Amino acid sequence: MRKPNVFTKLGTCRVAHRLIFVLATFIILISVTSLSKFYSLRSLLVTNTFINHLTPESHDGSGSEVRITIQTVIQKIQQELIMMRDMPTESSSPASLLRHTAFLADILRLIESVQASLPLNEKTYKQKSEKSSPHPLKQQSNEFSDYFFIEEIRKYVKMKPNRLGKQNFMGANGTFTSIGHACFAMKKELEEYMNYDIGEICNDDWKLAQKLMVHGCDPLPRRRCFSRAPQLYYKPFPTSESMWKLPDNRNVRWSQYRCKNFNCLANNSTGKGFFKCADCFNLSYHEMPRWIQLVNIVPNSNLTADFLIPEVLGIKPGEIRIGLDFSVGTGTFAARMREFNVTVVSATINLGAPFNEMIALRGLVPLYLTINQRLPFFDNTLDLIHTTRFLDGWIDYVLLDFILYDWDRVLRPGGLLWVDSFFCLKEDLDDYLKAFKMLRYKKHKWVVVPKLDKDDREVFFSAVLEKPPRPF
Ligand SMILES: *[C@@H]1O[C@H](CO)[C@@H](O)[C@H](O)[C@H]1NC(C)=O
Ligand SMILES: *[C@@H]1O[C@H](CO)[C@@H](O)[C@H](O)[C@H]1NC(C)=O
Ligand SMILES: *[C@@H]1O[C@H](CO)[C@@H](O)[C@H](O)[C@H]1NC(C)=O
Ligand SMILES: *[C@@H]1O[C@H](CO)[C@@H](O)[C@H](O)[C@H]1NC(C)=O
Ligand SMILES: *[C@@H]1O[C@H](CO)[C@@H](O)[C@H](O)[C@H]1NC(C)=O
Ligand SMILES: *[C@@H]1O[C@H](CO)[C@@H](O)[C@H](O)[C@H]1NC(C)=O
Repeated sequence: MRKPNVFTKLGTCRVAHRLIFVLATFIILISVTSLSKFYSLRSLLVTNTFINHLTPESHDGSGSEVRITIQTVIQKIQQELIMMRDMPTESSSPASLLRHTAFLADILRLIESVQASLPLNEKTYKQKSEKSSPHPLKQQSNEFSDYFFIEEIRKYVKMKPNRLGKQNFMGANGTFTSIGHACFAMKKELEEYMNYDIGEICNDDWKLAQKLMVHGCDPLPRRRCFSRAPQLYYKPFPTSESMWKLPDNRNVRWSQYRCKNFNCLANNSTGKGFFKCADCFNLSYHEMPRWIQLVNIVPNSNLTADFLIPEVLGIKPGEIRIGLDFSVGTGTFAARMREFNVTVVSATINLGAPFNEMIALRGLVPLYLTINQRLPFFDNTLDLIHTTRFLDGWIDYVLLDFILYDWDRVLRPGGLLWVDSFFCLKEDLDDYLKAFKMLRYKKHKWVVVPKLDKDDREVFFSAVLEKPPRPF
């Protein structure tokens, strides 16, 4: 199942991933600085009386320079992102790497110069905001919406007062429809996305929407156009059949995928799916045995990173009822768990293949969610979180920390975290294990197994961990 050819691709992709992450981080950094300084603070926290003082030009000359530099940085990153997007996928040649390094150094220099001039402004802001900051929910200023030219965006982000003027029990007398702050760094793309005729059919642009979300423009604004649908939607197969059968091709819009039908996705020799999940659509051969038979056994030692569902559920008999699978896949984990009377929702985005459509057509619940988002579950609610093939050795340590704490938040005390075949470079293992140990969960299962492809440089890590009780 884990084939050499799949993982040689990983190296190439990892370089690209790294770059994308570095760039995304810069964008977030910059949009935070620029936003907090010029838009959100102004509109949400600061009263009119001192907007004038905060406007950089008015308190000293350096403010406008900062703004210009930040603007330059944003533009540069945007141009670079557009170029990267237009480049063919297998393009991490030494020359392009060199170019990116030079580019990043350039950005770093610019940001450092911005940084040097920041303290003054922050101090100014602190002094002012201490004086008076009216409750943000009571503000009605909409100045940050002026940043966008498209009327629909402005309308969307404007606070909507409750019609009867009453406050709700949370003290809000309006509704606040917000968008991810990185939307400001992707102004052009967002404006393209929101450029439609109200009541008409939307553009064929789910991929643009996903790109915005992945780059941090998440939540995306809602729209007032009708999303496109398959031309002829045939009724899905009944649950008894749908679980282990490729769905009807006509129930998916294939326009933005490289494969144009499910057989193409199931045939891994076409190489058109998501590289980490090349076999995921081959239900009968690849998906069928997962989690109920051991498939990846290291020959001489009989070691495996796979745990079986019955043994994991056996840790807490009858207690595991609802859970989340945060993975890239076609929902097979949820399909199997259903047989054990456990309801699992499968969180995934559509990485090169219609994963969400597939999960839904199998009769399971897909949750369309990027890794950027706080989970849409309340604290201490889920019995189980399972993850595989998504969080791997590419992930930033701080990001992993934020994710694990969020998972901890939604897991109930006594709930299980099943880390399934996490893999990373041998030399990174200790740092990743530290992140998992940080949770201080009870270890029911914990194995590290060599990963035999990729020159023996990587290892698998799997664990089943139990959330301990917490102070009331
Ligand atoms: C919201 O409430 C505040 C005071 O609680 C009030 O000043 C303001 O006018 C209200 N806004 C609307 C739209 O009713
Ligand atoms: C799934 O994999 C098996 C074994 O490689 C292959 O024989 C079969 O044709 C594949 N299924 C599809 C739909 O391609
Ligand atoms: C996918 O391809 C690899 C070799 O590239 C092969 O070993 C594996 O059996 C194939 N899987 C399926 C399901 O066809
Ligand atoms: C899988 O794809 C290869 C190459 O595109 C093709 O030759 C083969 O017939 C396909 N197999 C199936 C089962 O569709
Ligand atoms: C691996 O498992 C097989 C069959 O269960 C057994 O015969 C063999 O001795 C095991 N090898 C080791 C090294 O444990
Ligand atoms: C699932 O629930 C059904 C109906 O309550 C029951 O008959 C079945 O034995 C349960 N299956 C398992 C694996 O617990």
